[in-house]
Amino acid sequence: MNGPHGWQRRGYSVAAMRELARRALPRPIFDFADGGAEAEWTLRRNELAFGRTALVPRPLCGAATRDLSLTLFGQPLSLPVLVGPTGLAGLFWPEGEQAGARAAAAAGTAYCLSHASVCTLETVAALGTSPRWMQVFVYKDRGFTRAMTDRAAAAGYDALVLTVDNQLIGNRERDLRNGFGIPPRFTLRQLAGMARQLPWLWRMRRALPRLTLGNYVLPGSGLDFATLAGRLGSLLDPAMNWDDVRELRERWRGPLLLKGILHPDEAAQAARLGVDGIIVSNHGGRQLDGAISAIEALPAVVAAVAGSARPVTVLVDGGIRRGSDVVKALALGAQAVLIGRPQLWGLAVAGEAGVAHVLDLYRREIDRAMGLLGAARLADLGPEVLAEAGGR
Ligand SMILES: Cc1cc2nc3c(=O)[nH]c(=O)nc-3n(C[C@H](O)[C@H](O)[C@H](O)COP(=O)(O)O)c2cc1C
Repeated sequence: MNGPHGWQRRGYSVAAMRELARRALPRPIFDFADGGAEAEWTLRRNELAFGRTALVPRPLCGAATRDLSLTLFGQPLSLPVLVGPTGLAGLFWPEGEQAGARAAAAAGTAYCLSHASVCTLETVAALGTSPRWMQVFVYKDRGFTRAMTDRAAAAGYDALVLTVDNQLIGNRERDLRNGFGIPPRFTLRQLAGMARQLPWLWRMRRALPRLTLGNYVLPGSGLDFATLAGRLGSLLDPAMNWDDVRELRERWRGPLLLKGILHPDEAAQAARLGVDGIIVSNHGGRQLDGAISAIEALPAVVAAVAGSARPVTVLVDGGIRRGSDVVKALALGAQAVLIGRPQLWGLAVAGEAGVAHVLDLYRREIDRAMGLLGAARLADLGPEVLAEAGGR
């Protein structure tokens, strides 16, 4: 049974894939992805809050086969689980962004590229995979935001995601404790204890010294990470406001989404300004520790945009580790969900095949949960299948 694909057998759930990733990666790299801000209260809460809602099955509905397909912004998807933007995917597997984009397309879902991809947005576009979304920020130099947006348009990205909850960088204490830096440097002592991580080190031997933030490399400027990360940090503008959303709305013709909305008032304002989609998110607990969990914030956001003149698509991410979590999110009014860390765990374990496996785990778990619930289509998932669980 211990064949070449033993990891697929051992990675029988998203949690099991996390465990395999933990063993495969050097500790500072695993923690960079796994960790959250400060006491990690919000990080834990994202997962735990799913326990506040219970599913109430109707097995006599005869849902013999289940249809997991949907249409998002006019494009058909075969799975309501999208791959969310995560910076430095190329740290987990060589050409990690390309691997993720290919796996998502093969699974029939969308891939959102992070602003902080190792390769450039044009490199991912050149793969021809779709749907592909591009995530951007508002920078002090608004010209830089405009330039990134125009590059995404020229490269044929299908949607633009403006992340709004990262204008100051969260206080990630695991990174401080581990002395996490790019490129990662290991002490002799750490190296001595890294027998299990040798495959990762070997695989990454050429990629590590060249690790960069592809989209920030300007013609004629240095490639080195410290320069680029410094530039990025000083570029983010905490004074960002609704004028920036207005401007982006005028500039970007395709679907525009705001990621990092938790407050219903902000969702309502976004709807008034003609934003097409909201991603209810606390950045996976990596930004404001103490922030409400994404799943608890979802119902009020759904209600706030319900009566909008133009329909607003509501998505959610944070702590979604099970098909039943996806089912709960959809029943609470989300049209689809995104995953962050689980994609990186898949990458760390087996690159493109690992991400494909993770997406397949969600597909099979959603299918089984819907079958047991008595739901044949995603549209059958509504408040009538939910009850308060009372606990946490
Ligand atoms: C390592 C890492 C890097 C991330 N980088 C970005 C990013 O560049 N842009 C962004 O909008 N969100 C980023 N996120 C947040 C994710 O898009 C997503 O909101 C979050 O991970 C969802 O929670 P989950 O990891 O519990 O699924 C990142 C998350 C992780 C774990």
